[in-house]
Amino acid sequence: MSRDVVVVDKLVPGGQGLCRDGEGVFFVDGVAAGDRIEVSVERKRRGAREGRLLAVLEPSADRTLPDCGLVAVCGGCDWLHLTRAAQTRCKEELVVDALVRVGRFSPTEVTAFVRPLLAPPAPADGARRRARFVVDDAGRLAFFARRSHGRLAIAACPALDARLSATLSLLPPLRPGAVVRLAVDDDGIVAGVDDDDDVLVLAPHLRAAAATGTSALRGVLSARGRSVGDPFLRGEITAGWLPARSDALTFAQATRFGGAAIRDAVITGAGDVDGRRLLELFAGAGHLTLPLARAGAIIEAVEGDERALQHLGHNTALFGVVVDARRAFIDEHLRLRDVDVVVADPPRTGIPGAALLFRRLAEKGAVRLVLVSCDPATGARDLRGAVAAGFVVDALTPIDAFPRTHHVEWVAVLSR
Ligand SMILES: C[S@@+](CC[C@H](N)C(=O)[O-])C[C@H]1O[C@@H](n2cnc3c(N)ncnc32)[C@H](O)[C@@H]1O
Repeated sequence: MSRDVVVVDKLVPGGQGLCRDGEGVFFVDGVAAGDRIEVSVERKRRGAREGRLLAVLEPSADRTLPDCGLVAVCGGCDWLHLTRAAQTRCKEELVVDALVRVGRFSPTEVTAFVRPLLAPPAPADGARRRARFVVDDAGRLAFFARRSHGRLAIAACPALDARLSATLSLLPPLRPGAVVRLAVDDDGIVAGVDDDDDVLVLAPHLRAAAATGTSALRGVLSARGRSVGDPFLRGEITAGWLPARSDALTFAQATRFGGAAIRDAVITGAGDVDGRRLLELFAGAGHLTLPLARAGAIIEAVEGDERALQHLGHNTALFGVVVDARRAFIDEHLRLRDVDVVVADPPRTGIPGAALLFRRLAEKGAVRLVLVSCDPATGARDLRGAVAAGFVVDALTPIDAFPRTHHVEWVAVLSR
């Protein structure tokens, strides 16, 4: 271990600061570009070096006072110490960096197609409406501590919707180790748990809450389908646009701003889809399916999660649109039909076998791709695969769906 005084060069994709000394580069948590800091530097496995912040000697102009007392220890928000303007600038830099380094686009190409970051106008628009907790040994809801598997009990959290935050301390002691997902809609809070036993633990609380109105929790659902109360969310899967159904165990965008911004960018990017054949990959419970179907697209939707597909079927029937939805694992071997437009919204790991899949989609007639990404590195890799298959990137809009963190999404539009 060595002590050093350095100036932070820039922030990197994991959210850390990149610093240099005589031995090379190392990474430090909780810093801003331009900070002059004192650090202790340790060599980790496989030669990588990591610095621990000891003191900020001269703060960067990017710094602000965090609004959360857990800033140094919680694994949740890693950019609380950055001003909104600095978060915006750094996210834009991370996007450009990934496109150049991983996507192998030239800086000139990137400048031509990348749009400015869309960020929530007000902090409340960026509040998280769902969160995943692990129960600690005392039965309390906890987040993981920063860079550790340790658990940090959370009695309230300023990043969460205020009703969700207020509910955390009201729940009864839960089974240590249980995973609990909480989500809020306009009418209250629902929980999703892995185990049926956790449903039973929460049942008396729900009955008391229904009788006294002291808790906003109104339903719990287990991964095996056991439920108490009303465990369904309404309107969350569409970011408030339609009262479509989902639950706390099914993927949805965590912020209203993020959900709406992604939807709007996808709908604009897909262009006039009326009467066109549209393949939607990673459709989930219908966040993008419903507006695309309402716009007249003839949709084949593919999704791997059975629960999400059940919601999708329910939602298309509820809103009177016809979608050919099927369950399949999406990769380069996916069965394909002739298609005009493809919309894909993969998880953080990106699209498995993207390069070959895009080549096959081009052979099936696809002339437009709308690709959502929640990770610049895998998103840039997939864009490179699309370009290799003959598509050109027309526009890429970065979206700040998770203020306070290094996470950044984008919607890219490509044509052939
Ligand atoms: C980022 S979510 C997007 C869901 C939906 N578009 C939305 O906005 O709510 C990714 C979805 O892809 C599904 N998924 C992830 N990997 C998959 C794969 N290889 N094949 C099929 N579905 C997959 C997940 O179940 C999840 O519903």
